[in-house]
Amino acid sequence: MIRTEKLTRDYGDGRGILDLDLHVPKGKIFGYIGPNGAGKTTTIKLLCGLLRPTSGRAFVNDIEVTPANTQTIKRLVGYLPDIFGVYDQMSVWEYLDFFCAAYRIKPRDRKERIDEALRLTDAAYMLDYQVASLSRGMRQRVGLAKTLLHDPEVLILDEPAGGLDPKARIEMRNTISRLRDLGKTILLSSHILPELASVCDLVGILKHGRLVAQGTVAEITDTLREKLVLVLAVDGGTPRAVMACLNFPNVAEAIASGDEIRLVFSGTRREMADLTSYLVGKGVRVRSLREAETNLEQVFLTVTGDAAQPDAAETGE
Ligand SMILES: Nc1ncnc2c1ncn2[C@@H]1O[C@H](COP(=O)(O)OP(=O)(O)OP(=O)(O)O)[C@@H](O)[C@H]1O
Ligand SMILES: [Mg+2]
Repeated sequence: MIRTEKLTRDYGDGRGILDLDLHVPKGKIFGYIGPNGAGKTTTIKLLCGLLRPTSGRAFVNDIEVTPANTQTIKRLVGYLPDIFGVYDQMSVWEYLDFFCAAYRIKPRDRKERIDEALRLTDAAYMLDYQVASLSRGMRQRVGLAKTLLHDPEVLILDEPAGGLDPKARIEMRNTISRLRDLGKTILLSSHILPELASVCDLVGILKHGRLVAQGTVAEITDTLREKLVLVLAVDGGTPRAVMACLNFPNVAEAIASGDEIRLVFSGTRREMADLTSYLVGKGVRVRSLREAETNLEQVFLTVTGDAAQPDAAETGE
């Protein structure tokens, strides 16, 4: 339903996205995960036709995203931007009616569409609220309702859980899986790994504008499992320990965080013991060396080298 071929947007200075090949089948939720500045919003704007690629192509339902196809793409896609626009001087009803007009929905059909969209997002009670008075979580719901007004087949949601507290994130997750159950194809982005990750059928992990992993959560964790992800705990001297690890033949990556070093290891379990004695021989004070649990969060940490920050949402991005 969503497909890109070597999609590239070059902002200069090595920024942007490079050669992205994304595949999102119909009726699936695709989690587009990457740290701040990885290129998620850039990709999303390219998919919605709000930005032109430097090279490569994007398709929604086999229709190429080009200026000539803008109207068709708009009908197909409901887009939730990462920032809620300034519509403070309106009620929720006026706000949604405004977008119904923009989507050329006939006046006599609008009430039904608005009611349905607010029902799907559990926001019916907000109908007469002033937009200015809405909390962040309420705004995300109304924003999501806006994307549903013209009943699009595809939803593209940029950080739908951004700034939400844990309870609101769970509610958002439930809403999103309900929309998938209605047959929508959903691409959602996140720079953190909140509970939303668990709702995704497929995941793509983006780092510095490149897709470093794509597939089901099980596939991605399996690929890494072949490689073994190890956690080495040391008693001080972390930088030196990192260097020593990287000098060991089977260590592909070593990422330090405090007194712990996360290693991508291509050797066997027996060779783990060799690594331990090698490190001890190099004067590294090894406290422990163990296999990491490979859940999605660990995968994210390993492939991006960035700490997922579950609290970032509360502190504001
Ligand atoms: N209009 C622009 N001009 C120049 N550089 C840009 C522009 N928009 C984005 N960039 C750069 O491209 C990179 C990707 O930005 P993008 O906004 O797509 O990241 P993101 O993954 O959405 O990040 P975040 O999690 O912070 O929302 C960043 O380095 C950013 O500085
Ligand atoms: Mg963004």
